[in-house]
Amino acid sequence: MLLTGRIPKHAGIIMDGNGRWAESRGLPRVEGHRRGVERTKEVVEVAAELGLKVLTLYAFSTENWLRPNSEVTTLMKLLELYLKRELGNLVKNNVVFKTIGDIWRLPEDIQKVIRETEEKTSLNKGMILVAAWSYSGRNEILRAVKKVLCAGIKPEDLTEEIFSSYLDTAALPSPDLIIRTGGEMRISNFLIWQGAYSELYFTDTLWPDFTKDEFLFAIQDYQRRERRFGAISLKADAP
Ligand code: IPE
Ligand code: IPE
Ligand code: MG
Repeated sequence: MLLTGRIPKHAGIIMDGNGRWAESRGLPRVEGHRRGVERTKEVVEVAAELGLKVLTLYAFSTENWLRPNSEVTTLMKLLELYLKRELGNLVKNNVVFKTIGDIWRLPEDIQKVIRETEEKTSLNKGMILVAAWSYSGRNEILRAVKKVLCAGIKPEDLTEEIFSSYLDTAALPSPDLIIRTGGEMRISNFLIWQGAYSELYFTDTLWPDFTKDEFLFAIQDYQRRERRFGAISLKADAP
């Protein structure tokens, strides 16, 4: 056991800072993305070992499609490589792989690798690793609204629970903790519905420098938080 105390059921990570990591070393941005993938492998292993039920990694937003073609193509290739190379480890670590986002926008061959990885890990019983890829919260919500309308659900029947079941994250718990590396203090369209009561943790560390210890440090910080969900502190009532 790496840590005692409350472990978040679901943690999300906005993996930011790859480009700056590379630029500060005079390297092309894509080199930062390559290094970022190495970090991803380590964090996935630690999260599974800690006993998280779900780890969601924000790796490519719908807005990231606006980046130069060469960067987008490299990011797609890196996803494909990661999945092909890591499948064995995902199976070994009992991890279930899923994606959220507008996956249909990806090149057909990458969609195929994603589907295969999802299928080959679907019977695993351990942590669910969710890749948010071509994902944004607003896009997800809009697609969910369209599905709700197509399903003919009457306004008076629509509840938060029913609406949630039309999101890409249906059946997943809301994130308890959202970590953002890279120094920016914003959510950048990540899990905006599901993160309504997430604890937020920001660090200046750039994603390629985000070690296992930094991850454990973030979890320890989370363990000190008091989550009230709009109610009053239990401590306030203490004599
Ligand atoms: C995060 O790193 C990875 C993606 C968004 C794809 P960035 O590429 O945004 O790195 P910075 O923020 O420019 O340093
Ligand atoms: C957020 O990073 C998205 C991902 C990490 C995938 P960005 O670099 O795209 O976000 P902004 O542009 O700084 O808000
Ligand atoms: Mg960035």
